[in-house]
Amino acid sequence: MPGYEWIGTEEKEQIKDVLDTGIFFRYEFKNERNGIYKVKEFEERFAAYNGAVYAHAVTSGTSALKVALAALGVGPGDEVITQGFTFVATFEAIIEAGAIPIPSEIDETLNMDPQDFEKKITSRTKAVIPVHMLGSPARIKEILTIAQRHNIKVIEDTAQALGAEVEGRKVGTWGEMGTFSFDFYKTITTGEGGMVVTNNRDLYLRASEYADHGHDHNPAVGRALEGRNFLGFNYRMTELNGAIGLAQLSKLPEMIKVQEKNQASIRKTLESIQGVTMRRLPDEGKDSFTHICFLLPDAEKAIAFHKGLTEKGLTAIYFKNNLWHFLPNWEHLIERKTAWPGPLPFAGMPNAREVVYSKDMLPKTTSIVERLLVIPIFLKMDTDTLARIEMELKTIGNKILQ
Ligand SMILES: Cc1ncc(COP(=O)(O)O)c(C=O)c1O
Repeated sequence: MPGYEWIGTEEKEQIKDVLDTGIFFRYEFKNERNGIYKVKEFEERFAAYNGAVYAHAVTSGTSALKVALAALGVGPGDEVITQGFTFVATFEAIIEAGAIPIPSEIDETLNMDPQDFEKKITSRTKAVIPVHMLGSPARIKEILTIAQRHNIKVIEDTAQALGAEVEGRKVGTWGEMGTFSFDFYKTITTGEGGMVVTNNRDLYLRASEYADHGHDHNPAVGRALEGRNFLGFNYRMTELNGAIGLAQLSKLPEMIKVQEKNQASIRKTLESIQGVTMRRLPDEGKDSFTHICFLLPDAEKAIAFHKGLTEKGLTAIYFKNNLWHFLPNWEHLIERKTAWPGPLPFAGMPNAREVVYSKDMLPKTTSIVERLLVIPIFLKMDTDTLARIEMELKTIGNKILQ
């Protein structure tokens, strides 16, 4: 979770460049900006880091999802499959696009279960959003194969897994589009911010136009005279956020190295406790080491283990009770509470299927999440902190699992 832990001189210097020009807008002001284009440079470096051809920066990971859906032409009445263990933003973006989120189960990777994804496909399914949760890759190759067989577009929600890989290729670059978040809690942070990546020029152009009120960014004319192909919205990143992004990105490889070392230390202890099962990593998958996730034999033991850690003042997340990452706890979705007086936007639309959301609609996901404990990995975990976590894990584990 390092982004905010490592804010330093690099960020200050980058921001100073922008303050010196006084130009916070990413477009125009050619004479005033002295060649400083922080957002553009951040996009280019971010694309290069991930091995993607194009990247477009936006205001958040949620808007990145919305922009990707728009670029792919997903709209009212379309069905989009995503997993029921994700941050609620994945569902929000689909609903904001007027589309219908269809929840799939997860498996022991804590990410989309490819078999269940295939079961949920209907003639209305337009896209699938596998989420690389808690730093680690989904079974993206299998998901892609199924999606291609059914002509379904793949958007990878990579908000939580920047830097993770499958077969040496970064997650977020396998599907048609990948989306990232740089909010306060992410591997790199710009305060608020997000990115879409793609290798498809047409999708890139559509994304960059949609995120800027439809501007077609015609270099031959001034901004006021630019044309538009469709209605858009404003999801533009500011130069200040782009500047911070550049500083943070330059530290990312080192951040991942430190996280890997800290995670490995805790992992070794957990693996030595009988009855603990580690999260499954897909074949040739590489974690980004933001968390360590482990399963207990049953919910009762997971709750007791969690209580033991909390009583010792240690941070562990029991996602079964988490209000924001687990569909059965989203009473506002289940009760269809929107900010407008009517029902969810797709209800009653011609050809749209009426979908009922309920607490018990994801039995497999629930049976995994109720046994799951997650410890966040920090950059500033020194050897004393790690030793204390490991000692408590051993003591509590041996007591509960004997
Ligand atoms: C899986 C996932 N998707 C999307 C988002 C949304 O990102 P943001 O907070 O930048 O809007 C988050 C943020 O936590 C996330 O975890």
